[in-house]
This record gives sequence, C-alpha cells and structure tokens, in this order.
Amino acid sequence: MTEYKRYLVTAALPYANGPVHIGHLAGVYVPADIYVRYLRMNKKDVVFVCGSDEHGVPITIKAMKENCSPQDIVDRYDAIIRKSFEEFGISFSNYSRTSHDLHTKVSSDFFKTLYDKGEFVEQMSEQYYDEEAQQFLADRYIVGTCPKCGAEGAYGDQCEKCGCTLSPEELINPVSKLSGSPLVKKQTKHWYLPLDKHEDFLRKWILEDHKEWKSNVYGQCKSWLDGGLHPRAVSRDLDWGVPLPLPNTEGKVLYVWFDAPIGYITSTQECTPDWEKYWKSEDTKLVHFIGKDNIVFHCIVFPVMLKVHGGYILPDNVPANEFLNLEGNKISTSKNWAVWLNEYLEDFKDQQDTLRYVLTANAPETKDNDFTWKDFQARNNNELVAILGNFVNRVVVLTQKYFAGKVPAKGELTDVDKQVLDAIAVAKENVSKNIENYRFRDALKDAMQLARVGNKYLTETEPWKLIKTDESRVATILNVCLQITANCGIIFEPFLPFSTAKIMKMMKLENAQWSDAGSCEIMPVGKEIGQAELMFRKIEDAEIDVQIKRLEEIKKALEAEEKKNAPVAPQKETIVYDDFAKMDIRIGTILAAERVPKTDKLMKLTVNVGIDTRTIVSGIAEHFTPEECVGRQVSVLVNLQPRTMKGIVSQGMILMAENADGTLHFIATDKKIKEGCSIS
Ligand code: MF3
Ligand code: ZN
Repeated sequence: MTEYKRYLVTAALPYANGPVHIGHLAGVYVPADIYVRYLRMNKKDVVFVCGSDEHGVPITIKAMKENCSPQDIVDRYDAIIRKSFEEFGISFSNYSRTSHDLHTKVSSDFFKTLYDKGEFVEQMSEQYYDEEAQQFLADRYIVGTCPKCGAEGAYGDQCEKCGCTLSPEELINPVSKLSGSPLVKKQTKHWYLPLDKHEDFLRKWILEDHKEWKSNVYGQCKSWLDGGLHPRAVSRDLDWGVPLPLPNTEGKVLYVWFDAPIGYITSTQECTPDWEKYWKSEDTKLVHFIGKDNIVFHCIVFPVMLKVHGGYILPDNVPANEFLNLEGNKISTSKNWAVWLNEYLEDFKDQQDTLRYVLTANAPETKDNDFTWKDFQARNNNELVAILGNFVNRVVVLTQKYFAGKVPAKGELTDVDKQVLDAIAVAKENVSKNIENYRFRDALKDAMQLARVGNKYLTETEPWKLIKTDESRVATILNVCLQITANCGIIFEPFLPFSTAKIMKMMKLENAQWSDAGSCEIMPVGKEIGQAELMFRKIEDAEIDVQIKRLEEIKKALEAEEKKNAPVAPQKETIVYDDFAKMDIRIGTILAAERVPKTDKLMKLTVNVGIDTRTIVSGIAEHFTPEECVGRQVSVLVNLQPRTMKGIVSQGMILMAENADGTLHFIATDKKIKEGCSIS
C-alpha cells in the first residue's frame, strides 16, 4: 500500500447547458464534498477541483435555438451552477471553466504532446456535410423522421420521442438542422486515440490491480474490456471548442470528452503554482467522483491519455454512483423532470443540510435510487428534527437552565452512562472507516446512531424530573450529553456543514479537528456554552403538496405534448352498415350535473333524450364543472346496455371527441334541435 502524502480530488465537470439538479448533487458533488471535508478535518493536504464543462454540441444547439452565442449560454449557466455549489457548501478549492484561455492552452499543449509522440492515428472518413451552411454536421445536427415511432424531428443520434438510439443513416428523409438542406457526404480527417493498443495495460491496471473498486465500476470496466476497445476520435468538425492545435485544421476542435477531463488539470493550475506536485507525484492519491455515465471516460480513456502523455499519476479510485430518479421517473433536463438546486432554495430557504442529508441517506451508491418528496419530509421531520435537532436543543437549553450555561461535573458513572459514552468512539471509528471506503450512506447512519443514542439517553434519564431531587445526577447526565453533542458537531461536519457550524457555535468550540472527536472530555468541566439556536425546522404537509403538485403538472404537460405529437390513430377494421345501424344515437339536453363523490373523473348527468329523462354517468369531471354541463345539447348513445358505476345505474353514453392536446369536447349540432331526434 502506498503511503499517500496528499490528495487530489476531482468532481465531474457539469455541462454548462442547464442548472444542476438533485441527481448531480447526490451522484457526485455531495459525496465528493463529504470526502474532502473529512480529509481536511484530518489535516490532509488536499486539492478539490471542478469547473464548468462548456464545450460540446448540445451547447451549440441550445444557442441556435435561443438565437444567441454558445458563449452566452455557458456564461449564463456557469453563473447559476457556481452559485448553487456555493450555496450548498460544496467546498471546491477551485471551480474553473473550460472556456478560460488557460484551459485552451493546457488542453492544446496536452494534445500536442500526444501528437508529437505519435500516439494518435490519423484517418479520413466520410461525414455528413451541409453545403449551404458549409459545415460538417454532428449527428445532433441531423434531423428526420424516426424509423421506430414515426415522430418528426428525431435527431441523428437519438429520437427524443421514443428514446431510441439512432444513427443518421436510419432517419427517414434526413436533412440538416442548420439550413434544412439535404445531406451530402464529404471526406474529412480526424485524429484517433487507439485505445485498443492499451488493452493489456488496462486489463492489468484495472482488473488485477484495482479489484477494490466499487463493483458497479469494476463491472462496467470489465465489460468494456471484454467487448474489445476501438480507436476513439478526439477531434470534431465544429466551430465551438478548443481549436485543434495543428496547421491546416481550420473548423476542427478537440472533442469535448478530450478537453473536459483536462479541465481538472487546468483547474488545479489555476488553484496552485504547485499543481505538478498534485498531478505528478506517486504519493498523491487521485480520486475521481463521477456518475455512472462517465465511467468509461474516467477509467479507460482519460487514464490512457494521462499514461501516454507521461509524467502523470493515474486515479487510485473512481467511486462512481448510479442514478437518482425522481418520484419513479428518470431525471431529465430536457423534460424539466428534476428538482433544480436554485429552485429548491427558493422553497426551502436555508435548508441546504436537509437536502444534503436526504441525498446522502438515500444515495444511489450501489443501485439507482428514488427521491420522493414524502421521503424527504419524513427524513427531515423524523430524523433531523426529531433526533439530532431535538437532542442538541434540549441539551443546550437544559444546560443553560440548570447550570447557567457551564459544563457541569460528572459524578459516579452508571453502566448506562458508560455505554452511552462508549458510543462516541465507536461512531467516530465507523464514520471514518466508511468515509475512507466511499460508503457515505453507511457513514451517515453511523453518525446518526450517536445522535440517536444521545437522544434516547436524555429522554429516558429525564433530567427535568430529577432536577428537583438529585442535581448531581443531572450534572452527570448533561455532562455526558454535552460530550455527545460536541462529538456530533465534529462527526456530522462532512455531511451537514451548516448545522454543525451551529452546534460548534453553541458548544463554543472553534477549529475542531477530526482528532478531537472520539473523546469523552471534549467539553471540559466549567466550559461555557452558547445559546440554543434552531438547526432544523419541521416541514409541513402543505409544503410537500406544493412540490408534488408541481411535478404532477409537469407530467401532465409532458403527456399532453406527447399526445399532440402522436400520429393520428390508424383506421379501425371495416364494418357493414348494419353494424352502424344497430346504434341508436339521439340528441339530448343535460338538465342537471353533479360530481360523483370520491372519484376524480365521474360526473352524474340527468339528460332529457326525448324518449325519457335518464341518468348517465360520464368520465368528464376532470374537464368540465357541473355548471359548464347544464343546458348543453349532446349526442347520446341511448341503447347501450345499462352499467352500474359507483352504485349509480348509467343508461347510455355521451359521445365526446378528444382533441390532440387531451382536452374533451361535446358533440353537438350546429343548431339547437329537439331532444330525441336521431343521428344517423
Ligand atoms: N460534463 C460531463 C457530464 O456531465 C462530465 C465531464 S467530466 C470530465 O456528464 F471529466 F470530462 F470533466
Ligand atoms: Zn422515435
């Protein structure tokens, strides 16, 4: 085992084409931040870098849609993302941007070195070209009809309607998104990194030397390696990105996945003149925090780039997480199915730690997980408020009240006291071990266990009752509780930095280190403490309902959008006239309407159909109010066999037309007609 002298921790550079959401936070930034805070508290030498990933085709497409420049787009989102990270206490040593000049230099130098060493393979290939726009076309810039679902406007790499993966060849009637002109093919030259040449090295380095990597990461690497690696293009024909640093290559840039990881190096250079110490010494531990979609780039491509460049260290670990879903569905930026960090803070002001807590407790460490607002509320109310917050608050208030805010002296300890105090060292030990092994969920549980023990002890010993009869016993209890509280202030710090700052203020402990935790004497007798301060507040049902409603609305809008774009239903099987003639359809007038209780959809209608006045139950209650129904003329299928719904016998069916947007409409004549007249 290498003795590491310093740490270099990276968090995946987020794309600057949208704000960051809870999936990003849970998958990458919170775990990375927990790890780094823990290292810093252990007085380790650590640099924690990140930055905005500002190149790539999606950003240029967004710019085109919004009629602005790619730089405008990335400027906007870089500012939003940066602010969110700051607000959530993600404690980067430096947060950079790949559109910085320094990055252009660092990444082109990197490319040049590989080029000069002959590490690339040059190859001509045929690529789609737009003659009107005089530009090669990335797959995203090619649109046509989806061969699978028939949707218009499917991209050359994917149909967003049905989600299938495509190649431009598969599209029906493909055209350029830039000019709408038909495609031609043209020869173009690109540079490839021959990953296949490094297979032996990768097999040994990952499959033999890094068996300790998380099984999801190891497994994905193994299946890539077993499938055989191929050369990967590192250049693109595009006018947004780092220009290819070679003569006669106008209109070519570095592929975004080539320049983005080099952004880690740029960010470190921006951070410290000593950057080489972090990237080029074997006694630096390099750890990449990423989501599972980034595994191949960080475990295979980037390590090959670093290795062939020479002089750089390789990652010691890549603790990638799986995905976080939101209320059962995949988080999606384009579908707006997400909880955006900037919006979260508008609704839950100053409650960063609640989100950090829930996202860690429920982190997708080994499998995809689901975020639900109900779980969010339950964890806040039942764990943070009821256990940690309640415990700390009671300890501080009681110490103020009974001992004038000074740590009282312990007397003789009972077995229970001793057991409770033992939990302190155990918690520290467990939290440390789990953080060091990237098991942040477990680590948080271990920390919570200490608060739980303290809270239970306080509740069961009931010092507020004992105070009248046995003040010295109360002194012991509160002394024990204060030791636990102060320890919580330390061991929760990596997870809940805002709340632990409050605990440490209440405990009047400054600059505590990890080594201070584990002790039962951390709060010496006679030490003064501060006033109680609120750490967590209860989250009400109404607040959660607002969030759930919001998501329901988004879902409805999505469904409506899907319907609108769905092709018209194909014609049904042919029937003979007699089939039609069997149906007795009449004009009727709605005389009364009321909702059927305990249902969302059903409306009970009283309809004069000429023959008689009858009751019909219709599934229109989500579309019309009773008032909107009364007085309307409608078409009624009167000879439909009666059906009982919710205890009401429905005698017939009101005919409705469903519009493409999902709205319902009555079928009526162009002029008022006498009830009972037939439709045929
Ligand atoms: N922007 C990429 C994503 O969000 C991650 C880039 S990580 C880096 O998936 F290593 F390339 F920086
Ligand atoms: Zn499709």
